[in-house]
Amino acid sequence: MTTLPPSVSEAIHKQRDSYLSRLFELLRIPSVSADPGFSQDVYRAAKWVAATFEGMGLKTQTVKTATHPIVLAESPHIAGAPTVLVYGHFDVQPADPLEEWISPPYDPTVRDGNIYARGATDDKGQMLTHVFSTEAWLKSHGKLPINLKFLIEGEEESGSVALAQLMSGAYNEQLGCTVEEKLACDVVVISDSSQFGPGIPAITYGLRGIISFELTLFGPKQDLHSGTFGGAVANPVNALMRVMAAFQDDYGKVLIPGFYDDVEALSETERQQWQSLPFSEDEFMQQVGIRATFGEPGYSTIERCWSRPTMDINGITGGYQGEGGKTIVPAKASAKFTCRLVPNQDPVKIANAVKQLVQVRVPQMFTYKLKVGHAASGIVVPLDSPHMAAAADAITAGFGKPPVLIRSGGSIPIVSQFKDRLGVDTLLLGWGQNDDNTHSPNEKFSVEDFQRGIVASAHLWQAMADHAQLSRTSASKDLS
Ligand code: BES
Ligand code: MN
Ligand code: MN
Repeated sequence: MTTLPPSVSEAIHKQRDSYLSRLFELLRIPSVSADPGFSQDVYRAAKWVAATFEGMGLKTQTVKTATHPIVLAESPHIAGAPTVLVYGHFDVQPADPLEEWISPPYDPTVRDGNIYARGATDDKGQMLTHVFSTEAWLKSHGKLPINLKFLIEGEEESGSVALAQLMSGAYNEQLGCTVEEKLACDVVVISDSSQFGPGIPAITYGLRGIISFELTLFGPKQDLHSGTFGGAVANPVNALMRVMAAFQDDYGKVLIPGFYDDVEALSETERQQWQSLPFSEDEFMQQVGIRATFGEPGYSTIERCWSRPTMDINGITGGYQGEGGKTIVPAKASAKFTCRLVPNQDPVKIANAVKQLVQVRVPQMFTYKLKVGHAASGIVVPLDSPHMAAAADAITAGFGKPPVLIRSGGSIPIVSQFKDRLGVDTLLLGWGQNDDNTHSPNEKFSVEDFQRGIVASAHLWQAMADHAQLSRTSASKDLS
């Protein structure tokens, strides 16, 4: 078990109110990356984060990109100590539908021990736990036990396009070195996921990948009277529904040809481990407000979320949507949809299969456009690394209980590139809860989870140093 220098624990305790009020400052900035109308706010959020790092005495750099800025910071180098790269994001999802928020999305409010605001848990609150723990170390102890680098971006919720370019070397000139040198580290740490449940902290060892699409069908050159023309002019909304219906059967199995070809079967061990987690189907249904769960036959709810690929329509539009009725054959119709992918599925292969299916399914009389958006592979991380052991220690110290091991259905697009380009694994240490309403109205983050996250993070830096020390000692023993 790790212990913190008493001054660090004290500092964290004393600064509780300051941490909360500074989180509120960041939450007041509506940094929606998906909507160009908010790009100045994304920029303001980047400046806030950069100023915070500078205030801590870290070497800080804001990379200007073709889209949203990326903030980098690093602590003074300690030779021989391990290096951890902390990744997070300061952008958020759109707040709509606004009328469903009990308190306004960008006016953070504490109710029943929870901070309500867009971005509270995803990811401003979780990300800041690592910033504040680092600040506590530096301010009260003068130095960190390890080397820390921060990579905080403003475009995660839109597929991390600029960061992918940074990772491929596109911004090396601004960095003043290669991205591999800049981000060189032993392991990546991300808090941008959830615990298994209240009082059940977790380490997430797998994420699904994702690929996004937008399909538009174009019919008549403008909306037409459905009495005069209906029946003789094909309706793009009707047709789009038939096209989209061809993607999935009634039971949730995806019908894109070849979709499951590279999906690996779930191991019996994993299946059994997941079965032993305390999960209630009834509570799950109640939490999301459904009468029955749904999905591929032969899989449990957890298995469906964590280990099976999907196709979901995220939004569909076309025709008249105002008050009352309007009898028309609409000019066009479109659907935004995403596939969640599991490790070993190739996003490019899936994109091609989707293109093929759309081509076959869209009736000849329509012109159509299929936009392929951002893509990322699914990942699993090894469970037997010393980093995992350090993380488990830190979580136990911060949350009072050892973590369970889980996978998650969400995606953090850049994680697979940390492995591919930097050769390092990622520790996914989620401090949130599944009912935090991420991407939904009334997003929240428990004040207590925020504080525990800061404590766990402070312990993590110490645990990383301790475990590196341990593995060096055992390595030298092996040699003798
Ligand atoms: N923090 C989430 C990812 C996440 C959610 C991980 C739940 C684990 C559990 C992240 O901000 C997110 O929402 N990612 C998007 C990525 C997409 C827009 C490219 C997602 O998963 O939809
Ligand atoms: Mn997130
Ligand atoms: Mn998100």
